[in-house]
Amino acid sequence: MTLVSIFFFTYLTAQNDIIIPDTLSGTTFELNLQNGTVQFYGGQATNTMGVNGNILGPTLIMQKAEFVDITVNNLLNDTTTIHWHGMHVSAENDGGPHTIIAPSNSWNPSFTVMDRAATYWYHPHLHEKTNLHVSKGIAGFIIVRDEDEAALELPRTYGVDDFPLVIQTKDFDASNQIVVPSNSDDVLMVNATIDPKLDVPAQVVRLRLLNGSSQRVFNIGLSGNQTFYQIGSDDGLLSEPNAVTRSRMAPGERAEILIDFSGMQGQTLNLKSYAAELPNGMYGATLPGMMSMMTLTGYNPNPMNGSNFDIMELNVVAPTSNPVTTIPSSLVEINSLPESSANITRTLTFTAEAMGPNALNGKFYINSVSFDMNTINYSIPLNNIEIWTLTNQSPTAHPFHIHDVHFYVLDRNGAPPPASEQGRKDVILVPAMQSARVIMQFTDYANDDVPYMYHCHMLTHEDDGMMGQFEVVDETIGIGENNLDPDDIILYPNPLMESNNTLTVTSDDIVFEGYKFYDLAGHKLIERRFEINNKQILIDLTTLGQGTFILSLFSANKTYTKKIIKE
Ligand code: C2O
Ligand code: CU
Repeated sequence: MTLVSIFFFTYLTAQNDIIIPDTLSGTTFELNLQNGTVQFYGGQATNTMGVNGNILGPTLIMQKAEFVDITVNNLLNDTTTIHWHGMHVSAENDGGPHTIIAPSNSWNPSFTVMDRAATYWYHPHLHEKTNLHVSKGIAGFIIVRDEDEAALELPRTYGVDDFPLVIQTKDFDASNQIVVPSNSDDVLMVNATIDPKLDVPAQVVRLRLLNGSSQRVFNIGLSGNQTFYQIGSDDGLLSEPNAVTRSRMAPGERAEILIDFSGMQGQTLNLKSYAAELPNGMYGATLPGMMSMMTLTGYNPNPMNGSNFDIMELNVVAPTSNPVTTIPSSLVEINSLPESSANITRTLTFTAEAMGPNALNGKFYINSVSFDMNTINYSIPLNNIEIWTLTNQSPTAHPFHIHDVHFYVLDRNGAPPPASEQGRKDVILVPAMQSARVIMQFTDYANDDVPYMYHCHMLTHEDDGMMGQFEVVDETIGIGENNLDPDDIILYPNPLMESNNTLTVTSDDIVFEGYKFYDLAGHKLIERRFEINNKQILIDLTTLGQGTFILSLFSANKTYTKKIIKE
Protein backbone atom coordinates (compact mmCIF):
# COMPACT_ATOMS: atom_id res chain seq x y z
CA MET A 1 0.00 0.00 0.00
CA THR A 2 1.28 3.43 -0.92
CA LEU A 3 1.87 5.84 1.92
CA VAL A 4 -0.48 8.78 1.74
CA SER A 5 1.44 12.00 1.96
CA ILE A 6 -0.36 15.02 3.28
CA PHE A 7 0.42 18.41 1.80
CA PHE A 8 -1.04 21.69 2.87
CA PHE A 9 -1.26 24.34 0.22
CA THR A 10 -1.57 27.89 1.45
CA TYR A 11 -3.23 30.61 -0.53
CA LEU A 12 -2.51 33.95 1.07
CA THR A 13 -1.31 36.17 -1.78
CA ALA A 14 -3.49 37.62 -4.49
CA GLN A 15 -2.06 35.46 -7.27
CA ASN A 16 -0.85 31.94 -6.74
CA ASP A 17 1.49 29.91 -8.90
CA ILE A 18 -0.63 27.38 -10.66
CA ILE A 19 -0.18 23.75 -9.70
CA ILE A 20 0.85 21.60 -12.67
CA PRO A 21 -0.20 17.99 -12.04
CA ASP A 22 2.55 15.35 -11.89
CA THR A 23 2.71 12.96 -14.81
CA LEU A 24 2.63 9.18 -14.97
CA SER A 25 3.67 7.51 -18.20
CA GLY A 26 4.51 4.09 -19.53
CA THR A 27 2.06 1.22 -19.75
CA THR A 28 1.20 0.50 -16.12
CA PHE A 29 -0.54 3.07 -13.98
CA GLU A 30 -1.52 2.97 -10.33
CA LEU A 31 -4.17 5.36 -9.10
CA ASN A 32 -5.13 5.69 -5.44
CA LEU A 33 -8.45 7.40 -4.84
CA GLN A 34 -8.14 9.00 -1.45
CA ASN A 35 -9.50 11.58 0.97
CA GLY A 36 -7.43 14.69 1.50
CA THR A 37 -7.44 18.23 2.79
CA VAL A 38 -6.40 21.47 1.12
CA GLN A 39 -5.83 24.79 2.87
CA PHE A 40 -7.68 26.92 0.30
CA TYR A 41 -8.39 29.63 2.86
CA GLY A 42 -7.16 30.63 6.29
CA GLY A 43 -8.90 28.81 9.12
CA GLN A 44 -10.47 25.47 8.52
CA ALA A 45 -8.95 23.21 5.85
CA THR A 46 -11.23 21.98 3.06
CA ASN A 47 -11.99 18.26 2.92
CA THR A 48 -11.23 17.03 -0.57
CA MET A 49 -10.82 13.88 -2.62
CA GLY A 50 -7.90 13.27 -4.91
CA VAL A 51 -5.92 10.71 -6.86
CA ASN A 52 -2.44 9.95 -5.48
CA GLY A 53 -2.75 13.26 -3.60
CA ASN A 54 -5.13 15.64 -1.91
CA ILE A 55 -6.99 16.96 -4.92
CA LEU A 56 -7.17 16.22 -8.67
CA GLY A 57 -4.85 13.53 -10.01
CA PRO A 58 -1.73 12.92 -12.05
CA THR A 59 -1.73 13.43 -15.81
CA LEU A 60 -1.53 10.03 -17.52
CA ILE A 61 0.57 10.14 -20.66
CA MET A 62 -0.27 7.33 -23.06
CA GLN A 63 0.97 6.39 -26.49
CA LYS A 64 -1.47 5.35 -29.18
CA ALA A 65 -1.45 1.57 -29.88
CA GLU A 66 0.16 0.74 -26.51
CA PHE A 67 -1.55 -1.76 -24.23
CA VAL A 68 -2.06 -0.11 -20.86
CA ASP A 69 -2.80 -1.73 -17.53
CA ILE A 70 -4.32 0.40 -14.79
CA THR A 71 -4.90 -0.36 -11.13
CA VAL A 72 -7.41 1.85 -9.36
CA ASN A 73 -7.38 1.44 -5.57
CA ASN A 74 -10.37 2.88 -3.76
CA LEU A 75 -9.13 4.23 -0.43
CA LEU A 76 -12.21 6.43 0.00
CA ASN A 77 -15.02 5.60 2.40
CA ASP A 78 -17.44 5.59 -0.49
CA THR A 79 -18.08 3.41 -3.52
CA THR A 80 -17.16 5.07 -6.81
CA THR A 81 -16.08 4.37 -10.40
CA ILE A 82 -13.46 5.85 -12.74
CA HIS A 83 -14.37 6.63 -16.35
CA TRP A 84 -11.85 7.42 -19.12
CA HIS A 85 -13.78 10.29 -20.68
CA GLY A 86 -13.41 10.43 -24.46
CA MET A 87 -11.45 7.20 -24.84
CA HIS A 88 -12.67 4.41 -27.08
CA VAL A 89 -12.47 1.38 -24.79
CA SER A 90 -14.64 -1.68 -24.26
CA ALA A 91 -17.67 -1.26 -22.02
CA GLU A 92 -16.20 -3.37 -19.20
CA ASN A 93 -13.14 -1.09 -19.15
CA ASP A 94 -15.12 2.14 -19.51
CA GLY A 95 -15.76 2.73 -15.81
CA GLY A 96 -19.43 3.66 -16.10
CA PRO A 97 -21.94 3.41 -13.24
CA HIS A 98 -22.16 -0.40 -13.48
CA THR A 99 -18.45 -0.93 -12.88
CA ILE A 100 -18.27 0.04 -9.22
CA ILE A 101 -15.23 -0.06 -6.96
CA ALA A 102 -16.24 -0.62 -3.33
CA PRO A 103 -14.17 0.98 -0.55
CA SER A 104 -10.89 -0.92 0.05
CA ASN A 105 -11.28 -2.61 -3.33
CA SER A 106 -9.33 -2.31 -6.54
CA TRP A 107 -10.29 -2.31 -10.19
CA ASN A 108 -7.93 -3.37 -12.93
CA PRO A 109 -8.92 -2.22 -16.41
CA SER A 110 -6.58 -2.80 -19.33
CA PHE A 111 -6.94 -1.82 -22.94
CA THR A 112 -5.16 -0.87 -26.11
CA VAL A 113 -5.09 2.88 -26.67
CA MET A 114 -7.08 3.29 -29.89
CA ASP A 115 -7.44 7.05 -29.72
CA ARG A 116 -5.74 9.81 -31.61
CA ALA A 117 -3.44 12.27 -29.92
CA ALA A 118 -5.66 14.56 -27.86
CA THR A 119 -6.52 15.61 -24.33
CA TYR A 120 -8.85 13.23 -22.51
CA TRP A 121 -9.69 13.06 -18.82
CA TYR A 122 -10.76 10.68 -16.09
CA HIS A 123 -13.37 11.18 -13.42
CA PRO A 124 -15.80 9.22 -11.21
CA HIS A 125 -19.15 8.12 -12.64
CA LEU A 126 -21.16 6.57 -9.82
CA HIS A 127 -24.85 7.04 -10.45
CA GLU A 128 -26.18 9.97 -8.38
CA LYS A 129 -22.73 10.75 -6.97
CA THR A 130 -20.72 11.86 -10.00
CA ASN A 131 -21.10 15.52 -9.04
CA LEU A 132 -20.08 14.90 -5.42
CA HIS A 133 -16.94 12.96 -6.27
CA VAL A 134 -15.85 15.29 -9.10
CA SER A 135 -16.60 18.45 -7.11
CA LYS A 136 -14.66 17.14 -4.11
CA GLY A 137 -11.67 16.90 -6.42
CA ILE A 138 -11.37 13.64 -8.34
CA ALA A 139 -10.41 14.37 -11.95
CA GLY A 140 -7.24 14.11 -13.98
CA PHE A 141 -5.93 14.51 -17.50
CA ILE A 142 -4.98 11.83 -20.02
CA ILE A 143 -2.71 13.01 -22.81
CA VAL A 144 -2.52 10.61 -25.74
CA ARG A 145 0.38 11.03 -28.13
CA ASP A 146 0.64 9.57 -31.64
CA GLU A 147 2.83 9.71 -34.74
CA ASP A 148 0.73 12.24 -36.63
CA GLU A 149 0.93 14.69 -33.77
CA ALA A 150 4.64 13.98 -33.22
CA ALA A 151 5.35 14.89 -36.86
CA LEU A 152 4.01 18.41 -36.38
CA GLU A 153 5.99 21.31 -35.07
CA LEU A 154 3.89 21.90 -31.97
CA PRO A 155 4.83 22.75 -28.40
CA ARG A 156 4.77 19.52 -26.38
CA THR A 157 7.12 19.92 -23.44
CA TYR A 158 4.84 19.30 -20.48
CA GLY A 159 4.78 22.15 -17.99
CA VAL A 160 7.19 24.24 -20.11
CA ASP A 161 5.36 25.19 -23.31
CA ASP A 162 2.45 22.71 -23.05
CA PHE A 163 0.10 23.11 -20.07
CA PRO A 164 -2.98 21.11 -19.02
CA LEU A 165 -5.52 23.45 -17.42
CA VAL A 166 -8.73 22.23 -15.81
CA ILE A 167 -11.07 25.12 -15.15
CA GLN A 168 -13.66 24.60 -12.42
CA THR A 169 -15.97 26.63 -10.26
CA LYS A 170 -17.00 25.51 -6.80
CA ASP A 171 -19.13 26.71 -3.90
CA PHE A 172 -17.59 26.92 -0.42
CA ASP A 173 -19.63 27.22 2.78
CA ALA A 174 -18.74 29.33 5.84
CA SER A 175 -16.48 26.59 7.21
CA ASN A 176 -14.59 26.32 3.88
CA GLN A 177 -16.24 23.07 2.79
CA ILE A 178 -17.27 22.34 -0.82
CA VAL A 179 -21.06 22.40 -1.25
CA VAL A 180 -22.54 19.85 -3.67
CA PRO A 181 -24.82 20.32 -5.51
CA SER A 182 -24.89 24.08 -5.71
CA ASN A 183 -25.78 26.90 -8.08
CA SER A 184 -23.68 29.31 -5.99
CA ASP A 185 -20.38 28.22 -7.53
CA ASP A 186 -18.64 31.57 -7.23
CA VAL A 187 -15.04 30.41 -6.64
CA LEU A 188 -13.02 29.80 -9.77
CA MET A 189 -9.93 27.61 -9.79
CA VAL A 190 -7.55 26.28 -12.41
CA ASN A 191 -5.77 23.04 -11.53
CA ALA A 192 -7.17 23.44 -8.01
CA THR A 193 -5.44 26.84 -7.69
CA ILE A 194 -7.53 29.86 -6.73
CA ASP A 195 -6.40 33.18 -8.30
CA PRO A 196 -3.87 31.36 -10.46
CA LYS A 197 -0.96 32.76 -12.37
CA LEU A 198 1.19 30.97 -14.91
CA ASP A 199 4.59 31.91 -16.33
CA VAL A 200 4.62 31.36 -20.08
CA PRO A 201 7.70 31.65 -22.31
CA ALA A 202 7.76 34.34 -25.04
CA GLN A 203 7.01 31.93 -27.90
CA VAL A 204 4.16 29.74 -29.14
CA VAL A 205 2.57 28.01 -26.15
CA ARG A 206 -0.02 25.24 -26.09
CA LEU A 207 -2.84 25.20 -23.54
CA ARG A 208 -4.94 22.06 -23.12
CA LEU A 209 -8.15 23.47 -21.69
CA LEU A 210 -10.74 21.30 -19.96
CA ASN A 211 -13.98 22.61 -18.56
CA GLY A 212 -14.22 20.38 -15.48
CA SER A 213 -17.03 22.36 -13.85
CA SER A 214 -20.24 20.76 -12.71
CA GLN A 215 -22.44 23.14 -14.67
CA ARG A 216 -20.77 26.36 -15.84
CA VAL A 217 -20.16 27.27 -19.49
CA PHE A 218 -17.06 29.43 -20.16
CA ASN A 219 -16.55 31.77 -23.08
CA ILE A 220 -12.76 31.65 -23.30
CA GLY A 221 -10.81 34.63 -24.61
CA LEU A 222 -7.68 36.67 -23.95
CA SER A 223 -7.48 40.17 -22.51
CA GLY A 224 -7.30 42.77 -25.25
CA ASN A 225 -9.15 40.29 -27.48
CA GLN A 226 -5.84 38.90 -28.67
CA THR A 227 -6.19 36.20 -31.30
CA PHE A 228 -5.39 32.59 -30.43
CA TYR A 229 -5.51 29.41 -32.46
CA GLN A 230 -7.68 26.43 -31.65
CA ILE A 231 -5.84 23.31 -32.83
CA GLY A 232 -7.80 20.53 -31.15
CA SER A 233 -11.35 19.61 -30.24
CA ASP A 234 -12.34 16.93 -27.70
CA ASP A 235 -10.82 13.89 -29.40
CA GLY A 236 -8.12 15.05 -31.76
CA LEU A 237 -6.41 17.79 -33.68
CA LEU A 238 -8.37 19.82 -36.22
CA SER A 239 -7.44 19.87 -39.90
CA GLU A 240 -5.89 23.31 -39.48
CA PRO A 241 -5.47 25.91 -36.74
CA ASN A 242 -8.57 28.03 -36.35
CA ALA A 243 -7.80 31.68 -35.53
CA VAL A 244 -10.36 32.97 -33.03
CA THR A 245 -10.85 35.43 -30.20
CA ARG A 246 -13.43 33.28 -28.35
CA SER A 247 -13.91 29.59 -27.66
CA ARG A 248 -17.07 28.54 -25.86
CA MET A 249 -16.56 25.54 -23.59
CA ALA A 250 -19.30 23.55 -21.88
CA PRO A 251 -18.72 21.08 -19.03
CA GLY A 252 -16.73 18.07 -20.26
CA GLU A 253 -15.39 19.77 -23.39
CA ARG A 254 -11.70 20.15 -24.18
CA ALA A 255 -9.97 22.62 -26.48
CA GLU A 256 -6.30 22.70 -27.34
CA ILE A 257 -5.17 26.20 -28.19
CA LEU A 258 -1.94 27.88 -29.25
CA ILE A 259 -1.07 31.41 -28.15
CA ASP A 260 1.84 33.28 -29.73
CA PHE A 261 3.65 35.19 -26.98
CA SER A 262 6.69 35.91 -29.17
CA GLY A 263 8.26 39.28 -28.37
CA MET A 264 5.96 39.83 -25.40
CA GLN A 265 8.43 39.12 -22.59
CA GLY A 266 7.57 41.17 -19.50
CA GLN A 267 3.90 41.57 -20.40
CA THR A 268 0.94 40.21 -18.47
CA LEU A 269 -2.23 38.95 -20.11
CA ASN A 270 -5.34 37.35 -18.71
CA LEU A 271 -7.15 34.28 -19.86
CA LYS A 272 -10.77 35.29 -19.38
CA SER A 273 -14.31 34.11 -19.68
CA TYR A 274 -16.36 36.66 -21.60
CA ALA A 275 -19.48 35.35 -19.94
CA ALA A 276 -21.41 38.58 -20.56
CA GLU A 277 -21.55 37.48 -24.21
CA LEU A 278 -23.19 34.12 -23.46
CA PRO A 279 -26.80 34.00 -24.65
CA ASN A 280 -29.46 33.65 -21.98
CA GLY A 281 -30.57 30.09 -21.37
CA MET A 282 -27.07 28.81 -20.67
CA TYR A 283 -25.54 28.23 -17.22
CA GLY A 284 -23.13 31.14 -16.85
CA ALA A 285 -25.20 33.75 -18.71
CA THR A 286 -27.19 36.52 -17.03
CA LEU A 287 -30.31 34.35 -17.13
CA PRO A 288 -30.03 30.56 -16.78
CA GLY A 289 -33.29 30.12 -18.68
CA MET A 290 -34.66 31.77 -21.77
CA MET A 291 -37.04 33.99 -19.83
CA SER A 292 -36.52 36.02 -16.66
CA MET A 293 -39.44 34.36 -14.87
CA MET A 294 -37.47 31.10 -14.84
CA THR A 295 -35.28 30.97 -11.78
CA LEU A 296 -32.66 28.59 -10.55
CA THR A 297 -32.11 28.38 -6.80
CA GLY A 298 -28.96 30.30 -5.81
CA TYR A 299 -28.15 31.47 -9.35
CA ASN A 300 -29.07 35.15 -9.37
CA PRO A 301 -26.84 36.35 -6.51
CA ASN A 302 -23.80 34.65 -8.09
CA PRO A 303 -21.62 37.50 -9.47
CA MET A 304 -19.98 35.27 -12.11
CA ASN A 305 -23.20 34.92 -14.06
CA GLY A 306 -23.43 37.20 -17.03
CA SER A 307 -20.25 39.15 -16.29
CA ASN A 308 -16.75 38.82 -17.72
CA PHE A 309 -14.12 37.52 -15.32
CA ASP A 310 -10.45 36.54 -15.26
CA ILE A 311 -9.60 32.86 -15.26
CA MET A 312 -5.83 33.07 -14.98
CA GLU A 313 -2.99 35.56 -15.18
CA LEU A 314 -0.37 34.81 -17.85
CA ASN A 315 3.06 36.35 -17.22
CA VAL A 316 5.31 36.24 -20.25
CA VAL A 317 8.89 35.31 -19.33
CA ALA A 318 12.06 34.60 -21.33
CA PRO A 319 11.75 32.13 -24.20
CA THR A 320 13.17 28.61 -23.90
CA SER A 321 16.27 27.56 -25.80
CA ASN A 322 14.43 25.77 -28.60
CA PRO A 323 11.16 27.63 -28.95
CA VAL A 324 8.33 26.94 -31.36
CA THR A 325 7.77 30.30 -33.03
CA THR A 326 5.26 29.64 -35.77
CA ILE A 327 1.69 28.40 -35.98
CA PRO A 328 1.54 25.39 -38.32
CA SER A 329 -0.53 25.90 -41.44
CA SER A 330 -2.15 22.48 -41.39
CA LEU A 331 -2.59 19.73 -38.81
CA VAL A 332 -4.16 16.31 -39.42
CA GLU A 333 -6.62 14.73 -41.78
CA ILE A 334 -10.21 14.56 -40.55
CA ASN A 335 -12.26 11.75 -42.08
CA SER A 336 -15.80 12.66 -41.13
CA LEU A 337 -18.47 10.08 -41.90
CA PRO A 338 -20.71 10.97 -44.85
CA GLU A 339 -24.35 11.44 -43.94
CA SER A 340 -25.35 8.92 -46.59
CA SER A 341 -23.40 6.16 -44.81
CA ALA A 342 -25.73 6.12 -41.79
CA ASN A 343 -27.73 2.95 -41.04
CA ILE A 344 -30.23 4.71 -38.82
CA THR A 345 -31.23 8.09 -37.39
CA ARG A 346 -32.33 8.26 -33.78
CA THR A 347 -33.96 11.31 -32.24
CA LEU A 348 -33.22 12.24 -28.65
CA THR A 349 -35.41 14.98 -27.26
CA PHE A 350 -34.56 16.86 -24.08
CA THR A 351 -37.43 18.17 -21.97
CA ALA A 352 -37.92 19.63 -18.51
CA GLU A 353 -40.17 17.85 -16.05
CA ALA A 354 -41.70 21.08 -14.78
CA MET A 355 -43.26 23.72 -17.02
CA GLY A 356 -42.96 27.43 -16.31
CA PRO A 357 -40.92 29.25 -13.66
CA ASN A 358 -39.57 26.16 -11.94
CA ALA A 359 -38.39 24.28 -15.04
CA LEU A 360 -34.68 24.97 -14.51
CA ASN A 361 -34.44 23.16 -11.19
CA GLY A 362 -34.95 19.85 -13.02
CA LYS A 363 -35.43 17.09 -13.57
CA PHE A 364 -34.63 16.90 -17.26
CA TYR A 365 -35.55 13.96 -19.43
CA ILE A 366 -34.21 12.36 -22.58
CA ASN A 367 -37.14 11.08 -24.64
CA SER A 368 -39.42 11.51 -21.61
CA VAL A 369 -37.62 9.00 -19.40
CA SER A 370 -35.14 9.17 -16.52
CA PHE A 371 -32.08 6.97 -16.17
CA ASP A 372 -32.81 3.45 -14.97
CA MET A 373 -29.85 1.17 -14.19
CA ASN A 374 -31.92 -1.81 -15.36
CA THR A 375 -33.17 -0.46 -18.67
CA ILE A 376 -31.14 -0.58 -21.87
CA ASN A 377 -32.39 2.36 -23.93
CA TYR A 378 -30.75 1.31 -27.21
CA SER A 379 -29.28 -1.90 -28.56
CA ILE A 380 -26.87 -0.85 -31.28
CA PRO A 381 -25.52 -3.36 -33.79
CA LEU A 382 -21.73 -3.46 -33.86
CA ASN A 383 -20.29 -1.28 -36.65
CA ASN A 384 -23.52 0.66 -37.08
CA ILE A 385 -23.12 4.19 -38.38
CA GLU A 386 -25.75 6.32 -36.69
CA ILE A 387 -27.02 9.87 -36.81
CA TRP A 388 -28.37 11.14 -33.52
CA THR A 389 -30.60 14.18 -33.75
CA LEU A 390 -30.40 16.03 -30.44
CA THR A 391 -33.40 18.25 -29.94
CA ASN A 392 -33.52 20.48 -26.91
CA GLN A 393 -37.09 21.38 -26.04
CA SER A 394 -36.17 22.61 -22.58
CA PRO A 395 -35.42 26.25 -21.71
CA THR A 396 -31.73 25.76 -20.88
CA ALA A 397 -28.66 24.46 -22.75
CA HIS A 398 -27.38 20.90 -22.16
CA PRO A 399 -23.89 19.56 -23.01
CA PHE A 400 -24.61 16.10 -24.39
CA HIS A 401 -21.91 13.41 -24.07
CA ILE A 402 -21.68 9.89 -25.50
CA HIS A 403 -19.30 7.18 -24.31
CA ASP A 404 -17.45 4.73 -26.59
CA VAL A 405 -17.52 6.82 -29.77
CA HIS A 406 -16.11 10.01 -31.23
CA PHE A 407 -18.68 11.85 -33.25
CA TYR A 408 -18.68 14.48 -35.98
CA VAL A 409 -21.15 17.35 -35.89
CA LEU A 410 -23.21 17.28 -39.09
CA ASP A 411 -25.09 20.47 -38.39
CA ARG A 412 -26.60 22.81 -35.82
CA ASN A 413 -30.17 23.87 -36.61
CA GLY A 414 -29.48 22.71 -40.14
CA ALA A 415 -26.36 24.87 -40.62
CA PRO A 416 -22.74 23.63 -40.74
CA PRO A 417 -20.95 23.74 -37.36
CA PRO A 418 -18.24 26.34 -36.62
CA ALA A 419 -14.66 25.40 -37.56
CA SER A 420 -13.84 24.60 -33.92
CA GLU A 421 -16.45 21.82 -34.05
CA GLN A 422 -15.33 20.33 -37.37
CA GLY A 423 -13.20 17.69 -35.67
CA ARG A 424 -13.70 14.66 -33.49
CA LYS A 425 -15.85 15.33 -30.46
CA ASP A 426 -17.63 13.61 -27.60
CA VAL A 427 -19.52 16.52 -26.00
CA ILE A 428 -21.79 18.99 -27.78
CA LEU A 429 -23.62 21.88 -26.15
CA VAL A 430 -27.19 22.02 -27.43
CA PRO A 431 -28.70 25.44 -26.58
CA ALA A 432 -32.28 25.86 -25.43
CA MET A 433 -34.88 25.23 -28.14
CA GLN A 434 -32.18 24.30 -30.67
CA SER A 435 -31.03 21.09 -32.26
CA ALA A 436 -27.87 19.46 -33.55
CA ARG A 437 -27.09 16.31 -35.49
CA VAL A 438 -24.03 14.15 -34.87
CA ILE A 439 -22.79 11.09 -36.75
CA MET A 440 -20.66 8.27 -35.37
CA GLN A 441 -19.74 4.62 -35.82
CA PHE A 442 -19.90 2.02 -33.05
CA THR A 443 -16.82 -0.03 -33.85
CA ASP A 444 -14.62 -2.64 -32.19
CA TYR A 445 -16.37 -3.39 -28.92
CA ALA A 446 -19.56 -5.36 -28.41
CA ASN A 447 -20.73 -6.38 -24.99
CA ASP A 448 -24.20 -7.44 -24.03
CA ASP A 449 -23.48 -7.40 -20.29
CA VAL A 450 -22.14 -3.91 -19.66
CA PRO A 451 -23.75 -0.89 -21.32
CA TYR A 452 -22.25 2.47 -22.28
CA MET A 453 -23.74 5.78 -21.15
CA TYR A 454 -24.95 8.91 -22.88
CA HIS A 455 -25.92 11.88 -20.75
CA CYS A 456 -25.94 15.56 -20.04
CA HIS A 457 -22.52 16.58 -18.70
CA MET A 458 -24.03 19.13 -16.33
CA LEU A 459 -23.38 16.87 -13.38
CA THR A 460 -26.48 18.04 -11.50
CA HIS A 461 -28.62 17.02 -14.47
CA GLU A 462 -26.77 13.74 -14.94
CA ASP A 463 -27.11 12.75 -11.28
CA ASP A 464 -30.77 13.69 -11.51
CA GLY A 465 -31.33 11.13 -14.27
CA MET A 466 -30.61 12.97 -17.54
CA MET A 467 -28.78 9.89 -18.76
CA GLY A 468 -29.45 6.74 -20.76
CA GLN A 469 -27.52 3.64 -21.73
CA PHE A 470 -26.86 1.60 -24.83
CA GLU A 471 -25.29 -1.73 -25.46
CA VAL A 472 -23.37 -2.54 -28.60
CA VAL A 473 -24.33 -6.01 -29.77
CA ASP A 474 -22.51 -8.25 -32.16
CA GLU A 475 -25.44 -10.01 -33.76
CA THR A 476 -23.20 -12.64 -35.20
CA ILE A 477 -22.07 -13.81 -31.77
CA GLY A 478 -24.05 -16.69 -30.35
CA ILE A 479 -25.32 -17.73 -33.74
CA GLY A 480 -23.27 -20.23 -35.67
CA GLU A 481 -20.22 -20.09 -33.44
CA ASN A 482 -20.03 -23.64 -32.14
CA ASN A 483 -16.65 -24.03 -30.63
CA LEU A 484 -17.73 -26.35 -27.84
CA ASP A 485 -17.94 -29.84 -29.31
CA PRO A 486 -21.65 -30.50 -29.99
CA ASP A 487 -21.08 -34.24 -29.54
CA ASP A 488 -20.27 -33.60 -25.90
CA ILE A 489 -23.61 -31.92 -25.19
CA ILE A 490 -26.96 -33.57 -24.66
CA LEU A 491 -29.95 -31.31 -24.63
CA TYR A 492 -33.66 -32.21 -24.21
CA PRO A 493 -36.49 -31.83 -24.90
CA ASN A 494 -36.31 -29.70 -28.04
CA PRO A 495 -38.90 -28.57 -29.00
CA LEU A 496 -40.26 -27.84 -25.55
CA MET A 497 -43.95 -28.56 -25.10
CA GLU A 498 -46.40 -26.33 -23.29
CA SER A 499 -46.61 -28.79 -20.42
CA ASN A 500 -42.85 -28.86 -19.84
CA ASN A 501 -40.86 -25.64 -19.45
CA THR A 502 -37.60 -27.18 -18.29
CA LEU A 503 -34.75 -27.72 -20.68
CA THR A 504 -32.08 -30.13 -19.46
CA VAL A 505 -28.47 -29.84 -20.63
CA THR A 506 -25.85 -32.40 -19.65
CA SER A 507 -22.29 -33.22 -20.58
CA ASP A 508 -19.67 -35.71 -19.45
CA ASP A 509 -16.76 -33.36 -20.08
CA ILE A 510 -17.94 -29.76 -20.18
CA VAL A 511 -18.41 -27.70 -17.05
CA PHE A 512 -20.95 -25.00 -17.93
CA GLU A 513 -20.42 -21.50 -16.58
CA GLY A 514 -23.71 -20.06 -17.70
CA TYR A 515 -26.06 -19.46 -20.58
CA LYS A 516 -27.88 -16.77 -22.54
CA PHE A 517 -31.06 -16.78 -24.57
CA TYR A 518 -31.56 -14.49 -27.56
CA ASP A 519 -34.47 -13.90 -29.88
CA LEU A 520 -33.79 -14.32 -33.59
CA ALA A 521 -32.99 -10.60 -33.95
CA GLY A 522 -30.09 -11.01 -31.55
CA HIS A 523 -31.68 -9.33 -28.52
CA LYS A 524 -30.68 -10.95 -25.25
CA LEU A 525 -33.67 -12.23 -23.28
CA ILE A 526 -32.18 -14.23 -20.43
CA GLU A 527 -28.72 -14.51 -18.97
CA ARG A 528 -27.48 -16.63 -16.06
CA ARG A 529 -23.98 -17.14 -14.72
CA PHE A 530 -23.56 -19.92 -12.21
CA GLU A 531 -21.95 -19.45 -8.82
CA ILE A 532 -20.95 -23.08 -8.94
CA ASN A 533 -20.27 -24.46 -12.42
CA ASN A 534 -22.02 -27.62 -13.37
CA LYS A 535 -22.04 -30.48 -15.85
CA GLN A 536 -25.79 -30.73 -15.69
CA ILE A 537 -28.06 -27.70 -15.83
CA LEU A 538 -31.82 -27.26 -15.77
CA ILE A 539 -33.12 -24.18 -17.54
CA ASP A 540 -36.59 -22.94 -16.66
CA LEU A 541 -38.16 -21.25 -19.68
CA THR A 542 -41.55 -20.39 -18.15
CA THR A 543 -41.00 -16.68 -18.83
CA LEU A 544 -40.53 -17.11 -22.59
CA GLY A 545 -43.56 -17.25 -24.87
CA GLN A 546 -43.84 -19.55 -27.84
CA GLY A 547 -41.28 -19.18 -30.58
CA THR A 548 -37.77 -19.94 -31.72
CA PHE A 549 -34.86 -18.83 -29.55
CA ILE A 550 -31.08 -19.04 -29.64
CA LEU A 551 -29.45 -20.69 -26.65
CA SER A 552 -25.80 -19.89 -26.06
CA LEU A 553 -24.01 -22.03 -23.47
CA PHE A 554 -20.58 -20.97 -22.34
CA SER A 555 -17.62 -22.59 -20.69
CA ALA A 556 -14.00 -21.42 -20.45
CA ASN A 557 -14.39 -18.77 -23.19
CA LYS A 558 -16.00 -21.22 -25.58
CA THR A 559 -19.61 -21.25 -26.60
CA TYR A 560 -22.17 -23.62 -28.03
CA THR A 561 -25.28 -22.28 -29.67
CA LYS A 562 -28.44 -24.02 -30.65
CA LYS A 563 -31.90 -23.08 -31.80
CA ILE A 564 -34.54 -23.97 -29.20
CA ILE A 565 -38.17 -24.11 -30.16
CA LYS A 566 -40.97 -23.62 -27.66
CA GLU A 567 -44.36 -24.80 -28.90
CU1 C2O B 1 -17.28 12.69 -18.56
CU2 C2O B 1 -20.14 9.90 -18.84
O1 C2O B 1 -18.72 11.32 -18.60
CU1 CU C 1 -28.47 19.10 -18.80
